[in-house]
Amino acid sequence: MIHDYDGMFNGHVQQAEKRQANADVLTEILWRYVQPKSVIDLGCGLGFFLNACKGRGASIQGIDGDWVDTETMVIPKSRFKTANLNQPFTASKRYDLAATIEVAEHLVPERSEGFVSDLCALSDVVLFSAGVPDQGGAGHVNLRWQGEWAEMFAAQGYACFDPIRRRMAAFDRAYPWLMQNILLYVKEGVEISPFLEEHRTVPRAASTIGYWHYRKRIKILRQRIRALRDGE
Ligand SMILES: C[S@@+](CC[C@H](N)C(=O)[O-])C[C@H]1O[C@@H](n2cnc3c(N)ncnc32)[C@H](O)[C@@H]1O
Repeated sequence: MIHDYDGMFNGHVQQAEKRQANADVLTEILWRYVQPKSVIDLGCGLGFFLNACKGRGASIQGIDGDWVDTETMVIPKSRFKTANLNQPFTASKRYDLAATIEVAEHLVPERSEGFVSDLCALSDVVLFSAGVPDQGGAGHVNLRWQGEWAEMFAAQGYACFDPIRRRMAAFDRAYPWLMQNILLYVKEGVEISPFLEEHRTVPRAASTIGYWHYRKRIKILRQRIRALRDGE
């Protein structure tokens, strides 16, 4: 582990109701486009997303570090396995959906392409969210624009779709990173719904930044400028 996650997980426990509400809205949006019967989540945390998938009838598998306190998880312990995702990860079967939500920014930069390759080996459909530069937050060692990840998926033959961010933003309690970062990748040649096809996008467009991130960065820049002026 390259970061102490105790504080983060305490926060997740305290915000359990909001976190589950976000996961429920996320799966409601996702299920309009794909209806996976089996889901694996790399870096599942306490399991809120998987819990929502289970509620929709999917069989679930969660993966996270051995530092997660399983007593605080919202999925059955039997559906959780530990792994260090800084190392290559493989499974004995493929899933209808592989998900990873705000995890890749915690992995060492040189692991990025390998992590994308592992996700593609797990499923034809990947739900992917990872922090952007200057997003803020603890333990972020690999912040990248979404377009960089989209290029890595393209190299694996996966196209990028953007059906979730706008809809997530319409939820008044949405976590900013979910409205900003979450995209769907599908292997080229796999049959998809025409509704999803409408949301096909390209890496440059995937890097679009939302109002939340923009406003936060402008505020920080203004504070820095003021501090510099005051120091003069
Ligand atoms: C910001 S949390 C996101 C958790 C969950 N996906 C969610 O959205 O609630 C980042 C997660 O990545 C996991 N993680 C970070 N580095 C990891 C590693 N090297 N191996 C396994 N899991 C890791 C952490 O334990 C944590 O659960």
